[in-house]
Amino acid sequence: MPRPEVDPDVVRRVAARLEAAGVPNAGVDARLLVEHVVEVAGVTAGCGGALLDGLVARRAARVPLQQVIGRTWFRTLELTCAPGVFVPRPETEVVAGVAIDAARTADRDRPRVVDVGTGSGAIACAVAAEVPGVDVVATERDPLAVALAEVNAQRLRDGQAVAGGPARGATVTVLRGSLLDPVPPAWRGKVDVLVSNPPYLPAADRGTWAPEVGGHDPDAALVGGPDGHEVVDRLLQLAGAWLRPGGTVVVEIDDRRGRDATDAAREAGLAHVRLVADLTGRDRAVAAVRAR
Ligand SMILES: C[S@@+](CC[C@H](N)C(=O)[O-])C[C@H]1O[C@@H](n2cnc3c(N)ncnc32)[C@H](O)[C@@H]1O
Repeated sequence: MPRPEVDPDVVRRVAARLEAAGVPNAGVDARLLVEHVVEVAGVTAGCGGALLDGLVARRAARVPLQQVIGRTWFRTLELTCAPGVFVPRPETEVVAGVAIDAARTADRDRPRVVDVGTGSGAIACAVAAEVPGVDVVATERDPLAVALAEVNAQRLRDGQAVAGGPARGATVTVLRGSLLDPVPPAWRGKVDVLVSNPPYLPAADRGTWAPEVGGHDPDAALVGGPDGHEVVDRLLQLAGAWLRPGGTVVVEIDDRRGRDATDAAREAGLAHVRLVADLTGRDRAVAAVRAR
C-alpha cells in the first residue's frame, strides 16, 4: 500500500514533542503516527486533531509505537499488537527467514513446523504466509499472548494480515502450554523445523532496559532464568527428540551468548551447528540439524 500523504509541519510538531520526551528516533515515530491517523481514521493530512494528540501523548509516555497504533509489520505481514504481549522485533524476521528456508526445502508434502513461545504469532504466521502446504503449531504459555496469536492467525486466514492469506494449503494452530508440551505426541521425531524466539536475557539486565521494553514487554518474554540461557538450553536439548532426522532447529539468542549457544547445541548432540547474524551483523540465532 502506498504511504499516505502527510503535512510535514504536523510531523515536525509531533517530532518535537516526542524528542522532548526522550523518544529515540522521534522523527520516524512522528511520521508513522501521523500516517496512522491519516490512514486509519481518514483524517485529512493537515489535521492534527484529538486522535493524533492522544496517540502522541501515549508515545511521549514511552508506550511502544506498535502498541500505540495497535499494529506492526513483520516480513510480509501486518500484525495486530496488544498491551501485555511482546512486540515482534525486526531482528526476528531473520530468524523466521531461516525457518522458512528450512521448511521450503524440507522435501515433504506437508512440512511440520513448531514455533515455541509464539507471542503475537509473528513467526508462526510468517511461516504459514510463505511456505505452501506447511502445518505450523505455535505454543505459548501466556494466555494474553495465546489470545493475540489466535487473532493474528485468524487475520492471516481472512486475508487481513497479508493480501491473499496463507500460502496455498498452509495452516496455523495455536496451543497453550509450556515449550513443546502441547505439541501432538504424533509429531515427536517428525518435526521438520523447530523455531523459537524465547526469553533469553539474564535477570541482572532488569532495570537497564528502555521504558518501552521494561515497562511494556512482559518480564516472562524477556528473562530466561537467572543467567538468561535456561530456555535456549532446554529447547536445544528437546530438539533432538522432536525433530525428524535432518530436521532443523533455529533459536534466537542474546548476541553476547553466541559461544554458549553453539556449545549447548553441540552438547545436545546436534550437527551442522552455526550462528546466524542479524541485519546489524550481530549473532542473533543458533541453528543446527538433527543428524540423520
Ligand atoms: C521474546 S518473546 C517472543 C514472542 C514471538 N515469538 C516474537 O518473536 O515476537 C517470548 C515468548 O515466549 C513465551 N514463553 C516464555 N516461556 C515460555 C514457555 N516455557 N513455554 C511457552 N512460551 C513461553 C513468552 O510468554 C513470550 O510470549
